[in-house]
Amino acid sequence: MGKTDTRTLVAETVEKVDENVILKGWIDSIRDHGKITFIDLRDRSGIVQCVGQDLPSVTSESVVEIQGKVSKRPEGLINKNIKTGTVEIQVGKLEVITKAQELPLPISSDGYSIDENIRNKWRYLDLRRTRMNTNMKVRSKVANFMRNWLNDRDFVEIETPILTKTTPEGARDFLVPSRLQPGNFYALPQSPQQYKQLLMVAGIERYYQFARCFRDEDPRADRAYGEFTQLDIEMSFVTQEDILQMAEILFTELVKKIFPEKKISKSPWPRLSHREAMEKYRSDKPDLRKNKNDKDELAFAWVLDFPLFTEQSEEDYFHGSGVAKFAPSHHMFTAPHPDDIELLEKDPMKVRGLQHDLVLNGYEVGGGSIRIHQPEVQSKVFDLIGFTKDQKKQFSHMLNAFTYGVPPHGGIAPGLDRFLMAILGEPSVREVMAFPTSASGQTAVLDAPSKATESQLKELAIKVAADEE
Ligand code: AMO
Repeated sequence: MGKTDTRTLVAETVEKVDENVILKGWIDSIRDHGKITFIDLRDRSGIVQCVGQDLPSVTSESVVEIQGKVSKRPEGLINKNIKTGTVEIQVGKLEVITKAQELPLPISSDGYSIDENIRNKWRYLDLRRTRMNTNMKVRSKVANFMRNWLNDRDFVEIETPILTKTTPEGARDFLVPSRLQPGNFYALPQSPQQYKQLLMVAGIERYYQFARCFRDEDPRADRAYGEFTQLDIEMSFVTQEDILQMAEILFTELVKKIFPEKKISKSPWPRLSHREAMEKYRSDKPDLRKNKNDKDELAFAWVLDFPLFTEQSEEDYFHGSGVAKFAPSHHMFTAPHPDDIELLEKDPMKVRGLQHDLVLNGYEVGGGSIRIHQPEVQSKVFDLIGFTKDQKKQFSHMLNAFTYGVPPHGGIAPGLDRFLMAILGEPSVREVMAFPTSASGQTAVLDAPSKATESQLKELAIKVAADEE
């Protein structure tokens, strides 16, 4: 192999005054002053100013290699706005590696005012803007902090299936047709809820996963359409208090390390009962910041003592037989408060659930609960939500599993996208996702959903009714 040219990163140039360097990156901007040309060169580490004479013509956003000498800028010309503002590169040679045509959208601004569909169509360019690039890096740092923190505390990272059976969290399922069993469908998981509970039966005791969850529900600013990511956690032999403590320490340490400029307004975090939150703030995710304009204030809170059931409505996707009045307030595996077990028979709407919601600055950034681990209580809840025999059968694996020695267990699932949106003060979860699906359900860059071919449909034994109209 030949000798490789050593590339210097833009940010490293400040340490290499009077040295010759090879830089590679994108032309961020060009200012042509006749014979002299100023170029801002951008790579993953930042931007540096390069100056040259009689340079070949080059367009913005082209990928180039620059060989040149790092020189110190005179005191008066130091640019305090960039990390490399004390130096500039005297260009010896500029080579265009690939030329860029004019970009279809501006990337030097924060991008908020550009139409979402345009940003999504050109997402690989949209991500070049500093704000988006930074968001991706922060996301990675946050995920790594969480991963290391949990690994250090005996948690085991386990992947659970994506092609699976319905795991209802209150939204519509995405279905995937089976070729091997024509007419049958997989469902994409709305969360790994059942698998993580089965992992507790399996003796794992402490599980986590960065879990992709799929939900066909109307998007909102804080709700992605289609898919999003949870830090999914489950633990055995714990009380609700243990789960709250664990999450509180995890997030407090995370903020200290990754967002040192931010201040948590109250520690330990305030705890509100659902009733108190509704009566005092008319919200089950109140924004407890003292000053809502302060971008560095973080008001974490717990909302507890939710009712186990809400009244089932017509729109509840998750219908039982149609005669039942109750829908699970969190999900159907949430344990009733031990003091309220008797009320399950007498007055189910009065039963409190061992649910906990994690709230940050007015967003629900996490939810979880202690789970039911007694088959007879689980069966009772299935009855109350109006499950028919058939529907009960769909979840018989849970009841079965619980007959083989199940530890008491519970967990929580902070939404990674929602948390990042809240802590970064972004207006939408899509600002912290690399390739989000647009509000109208269109994927970024790649054109989905799209039609399947005749032969694909035939193989799956599917006839598309819309085509027949
Ligand atoms: P839940 O449905 O409350 O609980 O979801 C947990 C957290 O996931 C985030 N979230 C979303 N983020 C972006 N887009 C969405 N469409 C979206 N939906 C939810 C929120 C929410 O608090 N299996 C349970 C967890 C458990 O019981 O352990 C569950 O999924 O931040």
